[in-house]
Amino acid sequence: MKITVIGTGYVGLVSGVCYAELGNEVVCVDKDAHKIKVLENGGIPIYEPGLQQLVDRNVQQERLYFTTDLKRGIKDSEIVIIAVGTPPLPNGEADLRYIEFAAREIAALIENYTVIAIKSTVPVGTNNRIKQVMKEVTEVEFDIVSVPEFLREGSAVNDTFNPDRIIIGGESQNAIDRIVELHKPLNAPFVITELRSAEMIKYASNAFLATKISFINEIANICERLGADIREVSRGMGLDKRIGKDFLNAGIGYGGSCFPKDTKALIQLAGNADYDFKLLKSVVEVNQMQRMGVIRKLKYALGELKGKTIAIWGLAFKPGTDDVRESPAFEITNYLLKSGCMLRLYDPVAMGNFRSYVDHANIFWAENEWDAVASSDAVCLLTEWDIFKQIDLKVFAKQMEEPILIDGRNVFNVKQIKDAGVTYYPVGSSPINEMVFELEKSKATN
Ligand code: UDX
Repeated sequence: MKITVIGTGYVGLVSGVCYAELGNEVVCVDKDAHKIKVLENGGIPIYEPGLQQLVDRNVQQERLYFTTDLKRGIKDSEIVIIAVGTPPLPNGEADLRYIEFAAREIAALIENYTVIAIKSTVPVGTNNRIKQVMKEVTEVEFDIVSVPEFLREGSAVNDTFNPDRIIIGGESQNAIDRIVELHKPLNAPFVITELRSAEMIKYASNAFLATKISFINEIANICERLGADIREVSRGMGLDKRIGKDFLNAGIGYGGSCFPKDTKALIQLAGNADYDFKLLKSVVEVNQMQRMGVIRKLKYALGELKGKTIAIWGLAFKPGTDDVRESPAFEITNYLLKSGCMLRLYDPVAMGNFRSYVDHANIFWAENEWDAVASSDAVCLLTEWDIFKQIDLKVFAKQMEEPILIDGRNVFNVKQIKDAGVTYYPVGSSPINEMVFELEKSKATN
């Protein structure tokens, strides 16, 4: 099939490349000339494991092209996929400017019947609106299909090839059949729905996963106070198939380009329909609060924060990506800077992106994980990258006068920590070696 994908962000680029890998001829179009230049020169504008090799192979086999020229891009295309951004407006609603603009442009250019598949996350009712917008521009026949995307950054290629389900919302059987045919090689169950239900499935799925995270984070906060261990609690809960083990890792709250945006958009969407989505409002509030757990523990461990040097391991909102959008690291570093701390920051791939948003005379951009630790009073682990998980804790303990580790992602186990003598503040369980630490502190001062 000949396919055009509009928008080369995470969703557009990864989907486009994967459709090419399935044997289709794919043209990826973006208005951003810089992104297209990077792609034309053989690079990729995002960090995503496995994507570069797929781009190389499909470009070489002449199945994958990049252009800024929409007219050239959609010529003879059977399916045009819209995957442009729907960023949040200040009130939380999704900004539909880009998608409407793309729809108008496509309508002005199509010459034959075309299936328009919308992958961008859009409020319920948007696909119908897009249809009207396009009808105002063209007399050529087309059908709109909603095909929401569920890929995760950091495992986007694998998720695209191994989806749990393919959601297709539409009104025209012919258009639905074309989209089914395109996705058949993926061997996943199809859920065929009305347009509005498909749109809602995407929001409801993200909101539900966000709820799971805020729920387990609150249970973790209670565990800290009552002396239970959240890791054991999560494991015990997750083995119940009705609950499921995924998304039960307590931490510092969710970030990224989807959960924060989509939860707020769904609250707005419900509000516009006169429904107060109380549960989801609490989910968002809990998520915001959760970041402060790291600060609370730092204050407990160090007392006064002013003048202290804090190392931060991890700036990306999750491992496997250079994306820092809505990363908890922003709130945490801003709070520490305001409190008069000196920061030593390190992330294996997201330093450049983070630095483009935050720069400060009190930030030292470390060259590696150890460089960040040097001369620090405490280390906070915010992103669970493998290099941090594989740290030799005995070596770590020797690098610091009083080794203090605030682990926002629960990556170390009790035995490792105890053996190394590190004072350790995990999420959702009691601190480890804290007594040893207190004892030695008092010995040192006596
Ligand atoms: C998410 C959805 O999973 C995906 O289906 C959708 O298409 C886009 O949004 P993504 O944002 O890439 O994907 O990452 P995900 O792995 O879902 O993690 C989101 C956030 O939740 C991260 O900040 C992560 O650290 C956090 N998280 C996840 C937890 O805190 N605990 C968990 O148990 C799982």
